[in-house]
Amino acid sequence: MVNKLNIACCLASFLCFFFAADLQAQKRKTLKADPEILKITDSALSRSAGQYLQLMETVPDTLFPRTFQNNRLLTATSPSWISGFYPGTLLLLYEFNNSNKFKEEALKKLKVLKKEQFNTGTHDLGFMMYCSFGTAKRLFKTKAYDPVLLNSAASLSQRFHDEVGLIRSWDHKPEKWKYPVIIDNMMNLELLTWASRLSGNQRFYNIAKQHADLTIKNHFRPDYSSYHVIDYDPKTGKVLNKLTEQGYSDESAWARGQAWALYGYTMMYRETGDAKYLEMAMHIADYILKHPNLPADKIPYWDFNAPDQSAAPRDASAAAVMSSALIELSGFSKGDKGKVYLKTAEAMLRQLSSPEYLAQPGTNGGFILKHSVGFLPAGSEVDVPLSYADYYYVEAMLRYRTLKK
Ligand code: GLY
Repeated sequence: MVNKLNIACCLASFLCFFFAADLQAQKRKTLKADPEILKITDSALSRSAGQYLQLMETVPDTLFPRTFQNNRLLTATSPSWISGFYPGTLLLLYEFNNSNKFKEEALKKLKVLKKEQFNTGTHDLGFMMYCSFGTAKRLFKTKAYDPVLLNSAASLSQRFHDEVGLIRSWDHKPEKWKYPVIIDNMMNLELLTWASRLSGNQRFYNIAKQHADLTIKNHFRPDYSSYHVIDYDPKTGKVLNKLTEQGYSDESAWARGQAWALYGYTMMYRETGDAKYLEMAMHIADYILKHPNLPADKIPYWDFNAPDQSAAPRDASAAAVMSSALIELSGFSKGDKGKVYLKTAEAMLRQLSSPEYLAQPGTNGGFILKHSVGFLPAGSEVDVPLSYADYYYVEAMLRYRTLKK
């Protein structure tokens, strides 16, 4: 009897989760696209496709493009957090123009990437596997990728520990932190909510929610800016320290970190229908949009609190992630807020598609965007093209095309 009751309760909460998500999807408003921005982004998408045809010629078979510096392509191997973005971008470009060249190159890279489904040494499996295999699944509507995605979700889940209630981010630098969780990790949760829907395994869903909830509790300042790293006591889950690794200082707002937070909570609202995630996403958006250091062209400096803003590099990757998130958020937000979010996304896309950021055909090593920042405090990848900037820029432009004409 008790067992039957338990099963019924589980089933009810499980169904609630799916229905809530469905209802939310229906509540999404479709705002109108600005014909001028559509023209700009369609032309930029064609330019992007041309760039990737060039990039494809230079990428070694088993490697993944990372950046182009000093006239050289720099690559990464499949365990890198960036490995999914190149096949992901190729697939998005295939979605745009149906060119089999993109599909074939993407499928080649998926073969190399596939083994990472069993990688339990990284929290980046969402970036790596969902942007790539998840996009392939969405486009080709095949079950062929389901085992890869489900194994990836299972591997990622192994990094969740009940005592802390969060997925552990990094294993390196044990002298610096004990159980680090970085804001970027919000982006990996979509793999789990998707896997839960497909498999019926509610543990994936519960992990994603617990992670997102504790991140709300511990990762944000009262103004809704986010810390980069929170270090937890692995035995008790107590917060030990609030730090940065890639930002200007522990108390600063690293631009891409704010972008991951914005995108992460918008996505979690879409995936769960839980209003607190929408509220959070709107607070984060408002922090970004109202920030006195956000330049008029809406492309953030690499850190909102970087000293000497006029000399600080901009980060196109942060703008690309923010624009994609703001387009989605605009459809969820009531009243004029949605319009403001969309207008800001449009301003970002307009500027990213200008000669300042969008590479001239045949330049930039085949990457699409110029002027991103990877890891400034380490002196690494400053003011360069980056594969993830390209991915989120193309995603944002495709999202823009789904708005009402
Ligand atoms: N997830 C690493 C970064 O944003 O640089």
